Amino acid sequence: MIATLVLSCLDSPVPEPQTPTSLAAPAVAIAVRSLSKAYPGGINAVRDINLEIAQGEMVAIMGKSGSGKSTLLNLIGSLDKPDSGSVSYHGVDLREVRDLARFRSREIGFVFQLHYLLPHLSLLDNVALPLFGQRDARERAAAALGEVGLAHRVHHVPGKVSGGERQRAAIARAIVNNPRVLLADEPTGNVDSVTEAALLELFQNLRSRHGMTLVVVTHEPSVAARADRIIHIKDGAIDRIEAGKGGREL
Ligand SMILES: Nc1ncnc2c1ncn2[C@@H]1O[C@H](COP(=O)(O)OP(=O)(O)OP(=O)(O)O)[C@@H](O)[C@H]1O
Ligand SMILES: [Mg+2]
Repeated sequence: MIATLVLSCLDSPVPEPQTPTSLAAPAVAIAVRSLSKAYPGGINAVRDINLEIAQGEMVAIMGKSGSGKSTLLNLIGSLDKPDSGSVSYHGVDLREVRDLARFRSREIGFVFQLHYLLPHLSLLDNVALPLFGQRDARERAAAALGEVGLAHRVHHVPGKVSGGERQRAAIARAIVNNPRVLLADEPTGNVDSVTEAALLELFQNLRSRHGMTLVVVTHEPSVAARADRIIHIKDGAIDRIEAGKGGREL
């Protein structure tokens, strides 16, 4: 039987590569394969996660406190190393990347719940920091601050602007290098609902104007609803995947 199959394969012409579901299917931006990570003490923080995220897609990651959301995001962002499994960006496996810091700074923007802006630097200098003193750093930082609606606050220090403005400055810093992927860990965790709505609109703009891929960890159903898909994590594994509303209601 096997011999017959092998022979019939040899006889037939070389098959054309299969086209994925449709010609218009967007490229895979991030592929996560069998990703696992345990912490000392036997905590299986991330357990065998498989996930493909399309270019320009917004994915929300939800789950109870301690379910492994931040660990997963940090593994996806190469801030942490998995025990097993892999993460690829546009077909490039992170295990093959020699200079991870450089790759990260070009490809991935990070937004954390705590903004980590340096208190003594102006918003402009904070946003220019990832550009490592490049000649046009301040112009690009000013443009990124303009993009998030902070053109009028560039010379303020973080302590002299509102919490929402600080978070927007953190987003400006994350996008100043024009990354294709933005990873955000509870970006709206410390802001009021008006600011949350403004941040969500900003995320939507980043997707529609720059085709950016967004992965957002959140506890807020209102934030998750804006995603294309909501990944529910339980005890380090994917519990279920739900469709979100994407940008449809904006
Ligand atoms: N550095 C660490 N060392 C040991 N255990 C850790 C470490 N970081 C996280 N953990 C544990 O791993 C599990 C997952 O943690 P993680 O921070 O990923 O959860 P989370 O879903 O982001 O929670 P939260 O919603 O509270 O931010 C938890 O049990 C946590 O206590
Ligand atoms: Mg967390």
